[in-house]
Amino acid sequence: MDRRTNPYAPGAGLQPPELAGRDRFIEDAAIDMDRLLDGRPNRGMLLLGLRGAGKTVLLNRLYQMATARGIHTAKIEAPEGGTLPQLLAPELRRILYGLDLKTAAGSRLRQAVSVLRNFVGAFKVKAGEIEFGIEPAPGRADTGSLEHDLPDLFAAVAEAANERHSAIILFIDEVQYLSSKELGALIVGCHEMAQANLPFLLMGAGLPQLAALAGNAKSYAERLFNYPQIGPLGFEAARNALVHPAQHQGVSFDDDAVAEILRVTEGYPYFLQEWGFQVWNAAADNRIRRTDVQRMTPVVIAHLDANFFRVRFDRLTALQQKYLRAMAQLGPGPYRTRDIAAELGVAAAAVATIRQQLIDKGMAWSQRHGETAFTVPLFDSFMKRQIPVFEKHKPKRRKKKRQ
Ligand SMILES: Nc1ncnc2c1ncn2[C@@H]1O[C@H](COP(=O)(O)OP(=O)(O)O)[C@@H](O)[C@H]1O
Ligand SMILES: [Mg+2]
Repeated sequence: MDRRTNPYAPGAGLQPPELAGRDRFIEDAAIDMDRLLDGRPNRGMLLLGLRGAGKTVLLNRLYQMATARGIHTAKIEAPEGGTLPQLLAPELRRILYGLDLKTAAGSRLRQAVSVLRNFVGAFKVKAGEIEFGIEPAPGRADTGSLEHDLPDLFAAVAEAANERHSAIILFIDEVQYLSSKELGALIVGCHEMAQANLPFLLMGAGLPQLAALAGNAKSYAERLFNYPQIGPLGFEAARNALVHPAQHQGVSFDDDAVAEILRVTEGYPYFLQEWGFQVWNAAADNRIRRTDVQRMTPVVIAHLDANFFRVRFDRLTALQQKYLRAMAQLGPGPYRTRDIAAELGVAAAAVATIRQQLIDKGMAWSQRHGETAFTVPLFDSFMKRQIPVFEKHKPKRRKKKRQ
């Protein structure tokens, strides 16, 4: 069919033609936002899910909803090894200026600008020009300790928003990449905003290990946020994600074609978009049949192997790859950590560092103690295609140093 009119949108953060199966989350977030604007207490939310589950596009939808309500928003993506202050400072500056600094600036607003200036100085980051000639705010957000200064800054900005009868939502994607210090400071900040009943909320997204990371950083994080699980789509939603966009263009799917796509994708949104996209291009007329799907499945898999899976695989050392290959040997998972070591033929302690590196890189995670799982759906079968023959781990003997 005509590739120009292909409705599907495979790719990281690409808005799908139909955001299927997420109505409940959207409804919950809408209620949170309305409560926030009414000055009622709220928990923040951290969306958790595997790669390609649809966290970023859902977070983007929530962002649009917040903006449409007139809530002031900041939106960042935590980079691997990046610094939170550098990312936040310009966004918070933009919020303050959006709160109408020039006309009829309130005292809280002028204070907040001073606090931001302190913060920018303490962390030596850039935020864009900050107007001078405003009241100094000595002792606020100027210690250089993020755990003190970030909550101070949040408070100052939230007080300014409060004065304007407005509210702030901070959107952060890939939260698991924040350092533990940054995550700790962020949580303390949210905690203080909640205690002071200031109109400030965090809505974030990250890989499933984020729940444990947040809990480790501050034990009360468990009660401070809701953690909606963004999983694969159920039958109805997955079907809608495929069928509706086609229907809008007069194209139909046979039921067994849909069933076949659901079988191979297991309902994961990213894979649904990839299959939809390729099958559309390959179909001869405006009826998509099971044979079209079967014909295209190897093509889609080859494409995924060369791109989506491959980029992740290439970032790993040979030993890390081997660890993942041992996991794949045991099936789709999750796995008992000691079974993986046994598969490798070594004691669990011998590969504990490799496992931790894989967790830090966002390739693996642990739901409960002693367990390990992939963060990328269907990665086990990719590992088997990539490394067809599994060999046990043979740790190299260190040569004795000559005296
Ligand atoms: N609810 C949904 N319905 C249909 N497609 C979706 C849905 N959520 C995400 N997608 C598609 O899945 C892909 C991955 O989405 P993304 O938000 O980047 O995932 P994540 O951030 O969890 O890795 C994109 O191509 C997007 O269009
Ligand atoms: Mg994402």
